[in-house]
Amino acid sequence: MRPVFGKLWLATGLLALLGGNALAHDRLSPFHFQSQGLLGSTDKAAAQRGFLVYETVCASCHTAKALHYRDLEALGLTPDQVAGIAAGVKTANGAPATLNDTFPAPKIPAGAFGGAVPPDLSDIAAQRPHGARYIDHLLTGYAPAPAGVTLLPSYYYNTAYPGGQLAMPPPLKADDVTYADGKSATVAQQAADVSEFLAWSADPNLDARHEVGLRAVLFLVFLTIIAIASKRRIWRETV
Ligand code: HEC
Repeated sequence: MRPVFGKLWLATGLLALLGGNALAHDRLSPFHFQSQGLLGSTDKAAAQRGFLVYETVCASCHTAKALHYRDLEALGLTPDQVAGIAAGVKTANGAPATLNDTFPAPKIPAGAFGGAVPPDLSDIAAQRPHGARYIDHLLTGYAPAPAGVTLLPSYYYNTAYPGGQLAMPPPLKADDVTYADGKSATVAQQAADVSEFLAWSADPNLDARHEVGLRAVLFLVFLTIIAIASKRRIWRETV
């Protein structure tokens, strides 16, 4: 009887785990991010578009203090392109930014947004459960407050935000940016792109990490095969 019960418990546990996951994910966007998953890599084209959205829209309220302009080279931009982007930005002392400058902090009037402070976005994707998918849903999750929900003054209803209401006004409008690759800048596209950008900024070494991990696993598989083969050879005569 015991082994049967053991299996039942295992099956029930697995089902609960899968079921629980399905519930947690239900409220998140079904969008698939290339950087998610066991061997995912950053979608650099999307992250480059996402940087444009970040710079044009999000940077007027949020900081991303951990990011230097030179970091953008890791997204496939050339040093000249990055220097051009930096030169178009003014640092706190009024001089044009260089590759070694961090992204500048916006000036937010005290008491704006009902006292809520826009958090630094450098590693927000790592700070929030479901990272990129949560941010994507947050940016597209604004909706009229359902009956019975009273919003605080200057707060907005959002289906992704825990508690349902937050002080960030809906930041994205269609065609806020013009993409160089001709992609249509819908709200959904901008939200997905800036989420991929923030997933990269929270984990810039993801590609290298996954590559090293894959090599290590392949090496261990190879080593295991050799070990089994030599064990068989050594013990062939004695068994
Ligand atoms: C007009 C100012 C403004 C703009 C523009 C803006 N935000 Fe925000 N954002 C806020 C404020 C204020 C908060 C804090 C909300 C709160 O605590 O209720 C916030 C919070 C957030 C959070 C944290 C939510 C959480 O789970 O705590 C994320 C993520 C975020 N913003 C992403 C973005 C992105 C991405 C953009 C650009 C597409 C953007 N924001 C543009 C004002 C802004």
